[in-house]
Amino acid sequence: MIISGGSIITDQGPVPAEVRCEGSRIVAVGQVGAPAAGEQVVDAAGLWVLPGGIDAHTHFGMPLGNGYTSLGWRESSEAALLGGTTTVIDFANPAVGESLVDTVAKWRAMADGSILCDFGLHVTVTDVSEERLAEIPGLVAAGCATFKGFLAYKGRLMLLPEQMKILMRAVSRAGAMLLVHCEDGEINAAAEETLMGTGRTAPQWHPLAHPPESEEKAVADVLAMAADTGCPLTIVHMSLTRSLELLMEARQSRGDDAPLIGEVCIHHLFADADLYLGGHEAALAAICSPPLRDRANCGDRLAGLAAGDLDIMSTDHCEFCLAEKSAAAANGFAHVPNGCGGVGERLVVSHTLAVAGGNLTPARWLETMCRRPAEIMGLAGRKGRLEPGYDADVVLFDPRAEYRWEPLGASDRAGSLWAGLPVKGLVKDVWLRGRQVVAHGTLVPDQPGGEFLPRTL
Ligand code: URP
Ligand code: ZN
Ligand code: ZN
Repeated sequence: MIISGGSIITDQGPVPAEVRCEGSRIVAVGQVGAPAAGEQVVDAAGLWVLPGGIDAHTHFGMPLGNGYTSLGWRESSEAALLGGTTTVIDFANPAVGESLVDTVAKWRAMADGSILCDFGLHVTVTDVSEERLAEIPGLVAAGCATFKGFLAYKGRLMLLPEQMKILMRAVSRAGAMLLVHCEDGEINAAAEETLMGTGRTAPQWHPLAHPPESEEKAVADVLAMAADTGCPLTIVHMSLTRSLELLMEARQSRGDDAPLIGEVCIHHLFADADLYLGGHEAALAAICSPPLRDRANCGDRLAGLAAGDLDIMSTDHCEFCLAEKSAAAANGFAHVPNGCGGVGERLVVSHTLAVAGGNLTPARWLETMCRRPAEIMGLAGRKGRLEPGYDADVVLFDPRAEYRWEPLGASDRAGSLWAGLPVKGLVKDVWLRGRQVVAHGTLVPDQPGGEFLPRTL
C-alpha cells in the first residue's frame, strides 16, 4: 500500500511525502517509487500522515469493588482507534495478596480477545514483601518493564516512604522504571476526613481533599528518593507548575544518568477546576486524582511541554459511567471512583488547544504523543515513528476540519469533559500494523484485535 498526496510532519513543519507499507511494516517514506501491479494507493491529499498515537497511561476495564466499573476493553479501545491512538500502556493492579505474575495474567485475560489496539502493561506494586519483589525480574523479562507505586490512596494503594525506596531499589536493579503517583496520602486523608466530617460531601469538594501542597510534598519526596536510590523515574499526571519546577531542579542536580521523566495528561492541561463549580454532573465528571487545578497551572505546563521540560502527553484514561459515579456520590465525594476519559480525545483536543492554538509545533506535538512515549516506555524501533522497519500504524488526519466534539462510542460516559467543545482536526483513517481499522471516521468491522507488546528499556 502507498499513502500518497499527504504530508508528514518534520521539524520544518508538514512536508509532502508518500508512505509505503508492506504487510505489517512501513518500508519507505518520502519518494517511494511507482506502485506495483495491484498495489493499493490511498489518496491523502490535504491530510497529515501521522504515526499512530501512543497513550502511555490508561486504565481500560479496571476492576473496582465488586465489578468492573470503568468502561471495558473493547469500548475503550474503540475510542482509542477512532481517536488515532493505536497503542496504549495500561496498568495491571494486583488484588490484596495476589502475586504480580497472576495480576498480569488476569489483565492479559481481560484484554486478549477484547482490546482492538496494541497494548503494553505497567505493573502496580502495593506490597513490597520479598516474595513480591522477587517477581520483578521475571516480569521485566516478560516485557513488563515499568512498574507503578502510589504515595496516595492511604489504606489502599499507598506505600510508605521506606517501602517506596525498597521498591525503587528492586525496580532499578531489574533494569526497569518506576512510575509514581505523587500525592501525599496522609495529607489527602486528613483533608478528606475534615471535609466529610463537616458535611462538605458534594462532588464539588473533591479538589479540597487533594490540595496542591499534597502533590508538591509527594513530588519533592519522590525526587529525593530517586536521587537516593538511582531509580529511573516517571512522575505521572503532573498537575502543578510547582511540580514541574521541582522536577527541573532535580534534573539539574542529578549526578547519574537515570532518567527523570515528567508526564502530563490532557485534562490537567486543557480543563480546570472551574468544572467543580459547574453543577453536580460536571463536578462528578471532573473527579480524578490529582484533581483539575487552577487555570494558571495549565498554561505553565503547556509551556513546559513545548520547551521539552515535560516529556509525554497521556490521558490517564479511566472512564466511569455517569450513573456509577452518581450512585457512589450519594455517600459523599470520597466514595466516587476517580478518573476521567480522554483516550479518544487526545489527538483532536490537543491539536485544537495546543497546535492550532499556537503553543506546540506540529513536530513537538507528535513527539509528546508518539515518539517520546515509545522511546521512554520501551517501544523504540517498533512504534512511534513513520520510518522504514516500524509497525505500519498510520493515521490520516485532517488539520482543517472544524466541528463540535461529540464523545466517541458509549453514550452515558461521565468522562466527556470535552463534549460540545469546538475542535479543529479530524481523524479520518487509521491502520494498525498495516490493516485498516478506521475508514472515513468509522470503525472497520471484524477486526482481529490488538497485540500485547513486550517492552524493553
Ligand atoms: O483519577 C485517577 N487518576 N484515576 C486513575 C488511577 C490513577 O491514580 O492513575
Ligand atoms: Zn495515578
Ligand atoms: Zn492512572
